[in-house]
This record gives sequence, C-alpha cells and structure tokens, in this order.
Amino acid sequence: MRNFQGKVAVVTGAASGIGFGLAQRAAAEGMRVVLADIERTALAAAESELRQGGADVLAVATDVANAASVQALHDRALAHFGKVHLLCNNAGVGLGGPTWELTLDDWNWILGVNLWGVIHGVRTFVPGMLAHGEEAHVVNTASMAGLLAGPYMSAYTATKHAVVGLSESLHHELGLVGGRVGVSVLCPGWVNTRIADADRNRPADLSRTVDHSTRPERAAMEAMGRAALASGMAPTAVADIVFAAIRERRFWIFTDHDMCAVAKVRFDGALGGQNPVFNAPV
Ligand code: NAI
Repeated sequence: MRNFQGKVAVVTGAASGIGFGLAQRAAAEGMRVVLADIERTALAAAESELRQGGADVLAVATDVANAASVQALHDRALAHFGKVHLLCNNAGVGLGGPTWELTLDDWNWILGVNLWGVIHGVRTFVPGMLAHGEEAHVVNTASMAGLLAGPYMSAYTATKHAVVGLSESLHHELGLVGGRVGVSVLCPGWVNTRIADADRNRPADLSRTVDHSTRPERAAMEAMGRAALASGMAPTAVADIVFAAIRERRFWIFTDHDMCAVAKVRFDGALGGQNPVFNAPV
C-alpha cells in the first residue's frame, strides 16, 4: 500500500502502547481509523484524543479473543466506513512463569488474545479486503519472542512463534491470489508500553490463580523486563517503522538490530546442531 489518504485502518489494542502509536500514525497519514480495544476507558480516551486532533475515528469495544466480537467489529467498521484497507492485528498480553506451572487459564487467556486474536482478524477481514480489489495490507504484531525463546516466557513465546509462522504462510497465499493484499509481521524489541500490566484486562473467568512472580528468579526476570520496557523504544517510533514497511511491502518489520543478531546466532546454532544458550532477554 502506498497511498493512505482517505483509506480505512482497523487497529486492535489501539487504546495503548504500540496500537495507539499505529492509530496516531494512521490518522496523521489521513486515514479514517477504527480503534478496537477491550479496555473501554482507555479506548474512549484514545478516541477523544485522536478526534481532537481532527481525525475521523470510530471506537469499537472489542475482545479479539472472541470470534463474534471480531465479527461485530468488522460489521461496525463496514457500516461506518464502507471498506477496510489496513488491518493491524496488534492486541496482545504477556504473562510469565515456569512452563509446568502455568495454569490452563494462563494458557487459554494468552492463546486467546495473542493467537486467536490474529486468527479471528485474518479470517474476518481478509476476505473483504480481497473482494474490494483495492490495495490493502495486514500487519500482525508478533515480537522478537517470535524468533527467540527465553526462560519463563514459553506461553508468550509460543503465541508469537505461531503468529510469525501464520503470517509467513499468509504472505505466500496472498501472493498466490494476486498480490493486492500484502502482509507484514511486526517483531519489535522492547517498546515502552503497559504490557507488563497486561493483567489489567484479564477476564475474571480466566483469572490468575498462581502468582509466579513471587519466585526469586522469576521476580528478577520480571524486574529486568520492566526496566527494559521503560527504556524501550517509543510506540510512535515503532509506528514510523511500520508505515515505512507497509509502503515498501516489506514482510519482516524489526526495530532492534541487536536482538536480530541474537536471533541469527540462534538459527545458526540450531542448524549447526548446538543446544540453545540463553544470552539475551527476549
Ligand atoms: P499495551 O498493554 O500497552 O497495549 C496492548 C493493548 O491491547 C491494550 O490497550 C489492551 O487493552 C489491549 N488488549 C488486551 N487484551 C485485549 C483483548 N482481548 N481484545 C482487545 N484488546 C485487548 O502493550 P503493547 O506493548 O503496546 O502491546 C501491543 C502488542 O505488541 C502486543 O501484541 C505485544 O505482544 C506486542 N509486543 C510488545 C513489545 C513491547 O516491548 N512492549 C515487544 C514485542 C511485541
């Protein structure tokens, strides 16, 4: 996609962090923007901030883990703006803990948002993007945790590896059906957002029953993660990189060259038959 003016963007997880950065940037490009998020107060604040800046926006409370909710988002977006040109499947949550201690509710929550959210987005929006025939693009937010794996992060890592694989298959498929719709996978390093407080949106029926953060080694990792996030890239800078990639139809979107170097070491080691070594926070 090269021309954004007047086109329609749908951004999930748009009330905070990277999603809000993408929505701000879409509005600055002259796009009409649908903001989707589960956190209603933050969503209303994001909507009013963008509207005050002169953007044409629609806010839709959405749970991306729920297929019917994503269908309702699609229907509202079409009823309001007619068609969708850019879909950012960005909503995501994080949790950590030893793999064998994660509860079924831990797994169901994170798989629901981070993986099913992307699946629902693609299944619900891509057919219409293909049908309207204009240039369109999908950006799936994965993570460098889609290419690297560290301790206490298996559930998050599993979802992000899955999003990378899903997106790469989708890239090939969209090429085979004519190439009017592109896809990128966003694999950021640390970004200064509220993801460490993702529990704020955890549904009551999947609530946390085991507090892994009390284990000393886990607490140390969590403190390191929070510090890295706080000194991470600004979401607006990530959005700049994303929009440049969409214009250039680049599939891979990276923000952290040091982490890319670690991923290269991982893949070289794997192909050389070496066991994994943990040498960077992911
Ligand atoms: P954030 O917590 O600031 O924003 C996430 C947004 O998703 C929030 O507005 C939240 O309300 C929303 N959300 C949560 N559950 C939802 C649901 N079920 N349905 C709809 N919306 C929901 O965090 P951040 O960092 O901006 O996260 C955005 C994406 O970026 C996530 O997919 C995350 O995994 C990914 N990411 C973040 C990195 C970072 O360092 N912050 C690094 C790599 C990837």
